[in-house]
Amino acid sequence: MQLKLKDIKKDPRINSFIDQTDKYLRSLGYTDHGRRHLDIVSDRSKMLANKLGLNIKDQEITSIAGWCHDMGNFLGRTQHHYWGGMLFSQCYINEADPGQVSRIMQAIVSHDKDDLKILDKITACVIIADKSDVHRNRVLNKNLKEVKADIHDRVNYAVTDNHLRIDKQKKTITLSLTLDTKFTNIMDFFSIFVERMNYCQKAAEYLKYEFHLNINKTKLA
Ligand SMILES: [Fe+2]
Ligand SMILES: [Fe+2]
Repeated sequence: MQLKLKDIKKDPRINSFIDQTDKYLRSLGYTDHGRRHLDIVSDRSKMLANKLGLNIKDQEITSIAGWCHDMGNFLGRTQHHYWGGMLFSQCYINEADPGQVSRIMQAIVSHDKDDLKILDKITACVIIADKSDVHRNRVLNKNLKEVKADIHDRVNYAVTDNHLRIDKQKKTITLSLTLDTKFTNIMDFFSIFVERMNYCQKAAEYLKYEFHLNINKTKLA
């Protein structure tokens, strides 16, 4: 059996992991890691895979890895990438093509932390899609006073527009953000996002692209 994103999205096992993760991370006061984030990562990683010329099967694998990448958080934030990969395997290793399952596991496990090892373009696409998702809509706390007091919330809240573009001719992947400086400043942004931007750069390098960052129409990287 070949796995398809539309079927994975309907799978009650995957949906229960996503629901439990959403509940768990909300209780910790984290930004959104639920279906809004997963949809963006899945769509963006598939868009990158498509523009990079990956075949249809690999584009599907990329979108599935994007959809499932954070579902292991409810078992522990620190190792959530490993939990996610293992949960995916438990669900599908006996019912789907093992080659497809293991490549999706690899992308889920490699999307985060120091364990990051980029072995293929699928993983690189998921990393860029995940780490580039910074936006006001990720902030779940509706209390503006509390949002301003928390640097993660403040920086996400300040981003009112977010576009990711890939230029095949120039070999560039560009993240353009609109930052509302009433809520944060560039230094806050960098103190939170330098690590994420490094991941994006590393993933882009693997793809033999340059990663660029524009904030308020100014090229910063
Ligand atoms: Fe993650
Ligand atoms: Fe994520």
